[in-house]
Amino acid sequence: MQIRFLSISLVFVLVLSLLAGCVQPAEDTGEQQNGNKEEEKNSGVVNLYTSRHYESDLELYKIFEEKTGIKVNVVEGKGDELMERLSVEGKDTEADLFFTADAGNLHLAKEADVLQPIESDVISENIPENLRDEENYWFGMAKRARVLVYSKERVDPSQLSTYEAMTEPEWKGKVVARPSENMYNISLLSSFIEVMGEDKAKEWAKGFAENMAREPQGNDRDQAKAVVAGEADVALMNTYYIGLMAHSEDPEEKKVAEQVGVFFPNQETTGAHINVSAIGVTKHAKNVENAQKFIEFLSSEEAQGQFAEVNFEFPANPNVEASEFLQAWGAFKEQDINLSVLGKNQQDAIKIFNEVGWK
Ligand SMILES: [Fe+2]
Repeated sequence: MQIRFLSISLVFVLVLSLLAGCVQPAEDTGEQQNGNKEEEKNSGVVNLYTSRHYESDLELYKIFEEKTGIKVNVVEGKGDELMERLSVEGKDTEADLFFTADAGNLHLAKEADVLQPIESDVISENIPENLRDEENYWFGMAKRARVLVYSKERVDPSQLSTYEAMTEPEWKGKVVARPSENMYNISLLSSFIEVMGEDKAKEWAKGFAENMAREPQGNDRDQAKAVVAGEADVALMNTYYIGLMAHSEDPEEKKVAEQVGVFFPNQETTGAHINVSAIGVTKHAKNVENAQKFIEFLSSEEAQGQFAEVNFEFPANPNVEASEFLQAWGAFKEQDINLSVLGKNQQDAIKIFNEVGWK
């Protein structure tokens, strides 16, 4: 099933890229080609591999095209598949930009040597330092928090305080989360290693796993569904899924979103865990300047609101307000760490999850 799905989606991205006109015959991409001709041909394009699939993004790209004359070719796919494709294509890749979710995944792309650093005063001004790679290999464009989502029926938010408190005996059999192999959880634990130290982070993972109402399973949305079904009282989830479910066309999802509350933990201590959707320039980009302009545009006040809002994320540019839906949750304190540490602590986090038996 999995293999079949992979091959179908590969065909899908290939068809998409053909439609977008960014796959060219192999002989057109060789290094021996006439330099001038290549430059001329590429001066007006930028090729984006992205795990996003929103109509409103395409509208945004059109605005960029109108402003700069640079045509944006888009190849959509799943983040891990696009990264694999970048690796396989190597220096023959057509991609100038790679966009996906979670700083942990961007770290993997950096480690896989498919990105390159760029220096831009515009980006440095628009995007806070903690939301960018220390060496400028990737830049956060939208923020999400990983929080506690609780049953409005059975939990009073006054009972909630910190991530750590969920390991107390009173929550035995009452919490749920997805499996530990998921990057969102790996990044969460990586952040804990940073803010509370490795021992405490391990204690947390062990205690949370022991309090689970069921074996870790499903995705983030499934955790909220389990809470509403009465299987558990509190779930570990990314904020934007609540927004997506609240605005879903599926009435069941809408109902689930109505019956849960969002709680930002650790407000008196280390802050709620945040992560980003982020973009980087590919190592073998043929249109580096255009790629930089594209990131600069996405980070601008003009683009940020729409770019973040469509996925119910918070704008990364602090000059841009979050959507009304998100503002209704109130302002919250974020972990005070540079998201580059999520990558640095990744292997330690995976090790801890294995050791404590969080499936
Ligand atoms: Fe997600």
